[in-house]
Amino acid sequence: MGVEVSVENLTKSFGSQNIWRDVSLTLPEGEVSALLGPSGTGKSVFLKTLIGLLHPEQGSVVIDGTDITQCSAKELYEIRKLFGVLFQDGALFGSMSLFDNIAFPLREHTKKKEDEIRKIVMDKMELVGLAGAEDKLPGEISGGMRKRAGLARALVLDPQIILCDEPDSGLDPVRTAYISQLLIDINAEIDATILVVTHNINIARTIPDNIGMLFRKELVMFGPREQLLTSEQPVVKQFLSGDRFGPIGMSEEKDESVAAAEAAMQAAGIAGGGTQDDFSEIIPQVKPNPGMPVRQAAIRHRANVEAMLPTLPPRAQEAIRASMAAEDARAADDEAAAMSVLETAPIPQI
Ligand SMILES: Nc1ncnc2c1ncn2[C@@H]1O[C@H](COP(=O)(O)OP(=O)(O)O)[C@@H](O)[C@H]1O
Ligand SMILES: [Mg+2]
Repeated sequence: MGVEVSVENLTKSFGSQNIWRDVSLTLPEGEVSALLGPSGTGKSVFLKTLIGLLHPEQGSVVIDGTDITQCSAKELYEIRKLFGVLFQDGALFGSMSLFDNIAFPLREHTKKKEDEIRKIVMDKMELVGLAGAEDKLPGEISGGMRKRAGLARALVLDPQIILCDEPDSGLDPVRTAYISQLLIDINAEIDATILVVTHNINIARTIPDNIGMLFRKELVMFGPREQLLTSEQPVVKQFLSGDRFGPIGMSEEKDESVAAAEAAMQAAGIAGGGTQDDFSEIIPQVKPNPGMPVRQAAIRHRANVEAMLPTLPPRAQEAIRASMAAEDARAADDEAAAMSVLETAPIPQI
């Protein structure tokens, strides 16, 4: 079972350079959340602050009753065992085989015997589709395989919290879809709290239960996917549709003359390259593969969204109600389809 991560009024600077300030959000236990934001807004810094690798000047990060910004080194060491982290570049040791890379946390943090370690490592390698690649060195495999090896390593200690920094960077769309599906399946299986840092719009729109967005040193919004995917907030809307017209520019701050020129282009009917949808419909969330357990977090999430519905704008309420009704209708069909798939074919391994 995952644990809740509660962040309050967090502020981080390096010297005189403030990265972000007053960030407050709660990652609900067992749910998948995504943190979005343009490059350089401090997403990786945020992730490293959550595990106590970087120290904020202000605010708290409470995990399992402990504020990791205040606790002792010994307490932090214990709390870190709850985490599995997939760093942006995979962060594998280049001179070690995949097996040894993935076994590393077990050898470092547990007193398990080698035969037990072998069993866990082989299990996780199979889970991420790397069976047979134990002896390969990181330099001998593709970027997608390195990501999956990093994910297997993040899973060996049975983490209750999984942090993934841009799991899609360097991957083609198909491999990105596989790794996204894997995250949802893992969530269904172990109910861990997951945070994915990304600027991949497709991941943002189809994978997480909750979405947060960092922009101009602040958390613009954090909430259920249903809320952000129907939001009229200009930054959120621009980012999620991948459009060049809007408050976000090539460098983070867009200057006034550029904004005015773009407004004129938009008025003249010139497209900004975005998805062109009007956000009145919520894209269905990716479901676990047939044969996986039902995601417990999805059930809790649904109840929370139903409770907050009356507080949302009427247009959003309408879209959310429609998507819930469509989801219920689909659920029955899916169940029948899953049964027939399971009877006829094994689930493919990636
Ligand atoms: N250890 C560090 N020391 C000083 N500045 C840093 C350090 N780590 C990150 N930064 C700065 O923090 C800002 C945000 O970086 P990062 O979190 O990597 O952005 P993102 O992941 O959103 O692309 C950048 O300006 C970067 O140069
Ligand atoms: Mg980053």
